[in-house]
Amino acid sequence: MYNEIILDHFRKPRNVGVIEDADGVGEVGNAVCGDMMTFYLKVKDDCIVDARYQTFGCGAAIAVSSMVSEMIKGKKIQEVMEMTHKDVSNMLGGLPPQKEHCSNLGIDAVKKAIEDYRAKKACNNTSAVQK
Ligand code: FES
Repeated sequence: MYNEIILDHFRKPRNVGVIEDADGVGEVGNAVCGDMMTFYLKVKDDCIVDARYQTFGCGAAIAVSSMVSEMIKGKKIQEVMEMTHKDVSNMLGGLPPQKEHCSNLGIDAVKKAIEDYRAKKACNNTSAVQK
């Protein structure tokens, strides 16, 4: 059912964990299957310098988180915002049709973490102006 790339990321997930002082955190869940994913990002000069995650979900969701963490590290935020779940699925060599929704979780969690980063940055800029 799963190809070798997916199995490899499932068996040896890359970049698992939490970044305690993350610049952005994004959590998403799928109400139907109950799977959940949280991404933690460190950002420097609009570039993602570190990415970690916690995934409570199926094998495909774990492989997706692992692949997404590798795809976004070292990338500019704007590049990441343009990534789609299809890009993730393609990088994994294609997900089985009933598991396509798992690729949404990864990219949605990362985009939510970027939104969180941007909101915090905007707040910091506002308080800097008020001083
Ligand atoms: Fe729902 Fe995998 S079965 S994310």
